[in-house]
Parts: sequence; C-alpha cells; structure tokens
Amino acid sequence: MVASEAQPFSKTGGLADVATALPKALGRLGHDVTVVTPRYRGIAPGAPAGECAVEVAARELRGEFHEVPLGPGARVILLGCPLLYDRPGIYGEGGRDYADNAVRYAFLSAAAIEYASQRAEPFDILHSHDWQGGLLPIYARRLSGTVRPGTVFTIHNLAYQGVFDKAWVTRLGLEWKDFTIGGFEFYDRVSFLKAGINFAEAITTVSPTYAEEIQRAGDGSGLEGVVRARRGALTGILNGIDTDEWNPAADSCLPTAFDANHLEGKAAAKAALLELFGFPLNDETGARPIVGMVSRMVDQKGLDLIAAVAADLASLAATFVVVGTGEAKYQGMWTRLAQARPDRVGVFIGFDERRAHLVEAGADIFLMPSRFEPCGLNQMYSMRYGTVPVVRAVGGLVDTVRPYNPRNGQGTGFLFSEYEPAAMLDALGRALAAFGNKKIWTRLQKNGMRADFSWDRSAAEYVKMYRRIKRRHLRDRGLHGI
Ligand code: ADP
Ligand code: GLC
Repeated sequence: MVASEAQPFSKTGGLADVATALPKALGRLGHDVTVVTPRYRGIAPGAPAGECAVEVAARELRGEFHEVPLGPGARVILLGCPLLYDRPGIYGEGGRDYADNAVRYAFLSAAAIEYASQRAEPFDILHSHDWQGGLLPIYARRLSGTVRPGTVFTIHNLAYQGVFDKAWVTRLGLEWKDFTIGGFEFYDRVSFLKAGINFAEAITTVSPTYAEEIQRAGDGSGLEGVVRARRGALTGILNGIDTDEWNPAADSCLPTAFDANHLEGKAAAKAALLELFGFPLNDETGARPIVGMVSRMVDQKGLDLIAAVAADLASLAATFVVVGTGEAKYQGMWTRLAQARPDRVGVFIGFDERRAHLVEAGADIFLMPSRFEPCGLNQMYSMRYGTVPVVRAVGGLVDTVRPYNPRNGQGTGFLFSEYEPAAMLDALGRALAAFGNKKIWTRLQKNGMRADFSWDRSAAEYVKMYRRIKRRHLRDRGLHGI
C-alpha cells in the first residue's frame, strides 16, 4: 500500500487511521501487507530496509527505506528523503501547500515501486490511497515479471485532487499519450486523482453511499462523469475503526475505564473534559450535556452551518467543546465564540490526539453536520464511547448512524437531511430532549456501544476484491491458482 499519512507516524485526518488499521486487519486475516509512507520530520527511523534512486523532475532523488512492524503480517516502510519530507508541515505550511507537492508524491509512488521491485517475493496487489497515491498504477508499468501486480485505488475524498501544470507530464516521467480525457488530463492540467481513478484496475471508496453520491452531477468535484465512466470498477467498502486504539475499556487518555455495562467511568471522563477546558466543576455544568466536536475546520465539515447559528448554539442548554484546526475564518469563529461565552463554549485550536480521545469519551453528544462525508470515523469513535452522534444524512454518516426510533428504542443517533442551519438545530434539539430522559438516553448509548464497527468485515471485503483481481491476472496468463 501507499499512503501519504499513517497513524501513529503522521496524521491530518482519517486517511492516517485507515492506512494502518486496514493493513493490521489484513495481517490478522493471514495476509502480508507493507505500507509505504513518507518519513516526515520528527519520525524515528526504524530498521534500515534498503534504498533507491529515482529520477524525478530532471534530478536523481535518493530514498531510504526503514521498516517498522505494525503487527502480525503488517509493516510500515518509512520513505526517507530529507529534501522532500524533512519540513515543518505534512502537505504545507501557513495554510499554503508546498509548491513541489507534485514531486513529493510522485516520488512516494515511484519509490514504492522501486521497493517492490527489490523484493524477492513479488507483490500480488499494489493499493494506493487518495491523490497522493494516484500515480502508483502508472508507475506500476515499470515492474516486470510473469504476473504483474494488480492495482487498486481508494478514494477517501474526491475534493482533494492533486492538480498541477501540464509541464509536469514529462518531468514526472509520464507519457503524453495518457494526457487525455480518459487518462489524467483535467482541464488542460495533470490530475493525480484522475490518474488513480482511470489507471487502477479496481477503485474503492470508503462507504457505499459515497460511492453512489460521487457519480451524481453537482457533487462539486467536477469528476462525477469520470467516476461514472468507471462505475463498473468501483466498490464502496465501509471503513472500520481500530478497536484497540479506540476502546473506552482500555484508553490511556481517560481517567477511568468504562464499557456498555459500566457506564459510570464516563462521568469521570466528562469531569476531566470540563476541567481541561476550564469550566467550573459544579452541579450545573455537570448536569448540562456536552456537545463535542473534533474536526478539521474546513467547509466539508459543515462549519458554515454552525457559523450561521453560532449565537443560538451558545444559548442552548448545552456546553460546547471543540478541538480542531484548519481555515482561519472557522478557527476565528470558534475562538470568538469561546471568548464571548466562556461559560458555554470551550475551544482548542490545534491537533491533539489526547484531547480528541477525551472529547469522544467525555462528551454526551457528538456533532458532525458535514456538507459531504466519504465515511467519517469520529461518529463511530463516538458511538463506541457512548457519545450519541448528531449527523447530517450523507455519505458514510448514513451508513453508520441509525436514526433513533422512539417507538421501539432502536437506533444510535440523530440525523438531518437538508443542508440548512434550522435542520441542524432541529436534530440537535431532538438529541437534547432525549438526553433529558435517562432511560431513553442510556438505551441510545448502549445501542451505539454494542454496534460492531471493527475492521474485520471490511478487511474481508478488500480481500475478496484482491482475490478477484489476482484470479483475473492468472487467467489472462493461462495460469491457475488462488
Ligand atoms: P477526515 O478524514 O475528513 O478529517 P474522519 O472522521 O474520517 O474525517 O477522521 C478524522 C480523524 O482525525 C479522526 O481520527 C479525528 O479524531 C482526527 N482529528 C481531526 N482533527 C483533529 C484534531 N484537531 N486533533 C486530533 N485529532 C483530530
Ligand atoms: C477522508 C474523508 C473521511 C474518511 C477518511 C478515511 O479524509 O473525509 O470521511 O473517513 O478519509 O477514509
């Protein structure tokens, strides 16, 4: 696999979680998986595992491979190249992408192919993620052998496309014959994402609903036609969560362990969260529900809905606790709100793993009003921690949160459809009303905590797809096997 971020080495969002949780799950199923990812600044090296030299943009770039085990059958190969990766940011700094990202991520794919070519045992499948891994299926042509590896490309987010000037075609060792509408040309520029979609043999995305949504006109990406043309190769496979990392019964970020049968420990997490955000610990703050958010602060996450009703939120019977980083206008919005209503709103601007865990555990309600959401992991983490999600009915949120039904007590959260502030407030209102009824609330919490979001089922679906590709390759060469 090739991924531009991987937990616990580097992370800006859910891709990092998937990039190691899926390989670990595949390893548990008896497969052998290697994830190649950049060794960004501050990442310790691991055991030396060879090196490579690749020509990109008319210069020879040297890469060093370091191996770190992930678990049975799974390992990470950290690709070192200080010139490209030893920088303060992952994709950029001060809100701006690095100007040489085309080189940084072309090199990631090219070096991964070098790594594969140096192994005595050939790989069956090369699987890359998001635009940063988009060139892998093309560079895979550099591999020789009786049976070429199959190629799989996963779209975690169609909104980030890696589009660069066409001067990069030759500089990246690409061919003009592929600079077409059916190739990687996108409005006279080079699109890494389109390369992944058009040149991989199989494409997946991270939920069945998002797989449908991205084929419809008006999803905003400008790629719906491209995706539709390849729908025969597209499958939506729901992400799982790493149930070791996100486990309220064994989470070192929490003051007390808890589970569905022992919810008392959740109160300790709530108290710790209130304290961390500087709220007074008294009966009033303790009784009021906490609405939590952990999110990249970007349009995708529905922050303009919140901006439209920010003042109303602070007057609801709730305390808001927010952890996030992103666009200056949204960081500013939350910071100002916290300054105006320190009794009701607590904000941490920044990326902080421990705070993220404590919000998932200590909040009562988790708010995720996304404009679009390929899968979303936070709502699943929330449910596992007995925190009831209020989400917009899109993408993976629809596929993971079941609406609460007051008639039979079934369901795990509250959903709204229209991308309207009033619809969001209505769903939040329904959740706050349910919070007032202890019996209903406990039922909702337990429904979520008992749902199975582990990777095992989804990893098995990936295996089925890998096997289909492998069988086809063997058949094409008149060979038989697996
Ligand atoms: P996306 O990948 O679109 O950001 P996901 O819900 O799939 O959305 O995943 C987001 C991941 O990033 C979660 O693991 C979440 O806890 C984490 N995360 C987001 N923002 C922060 C932050 N400021 N601090 C710590 N973790 C964060
Ligand atoms: C993307 C999506 C998010 C998804 C994550 C992992 O960042 O925005 O919805 O959960 O990838 O697949």
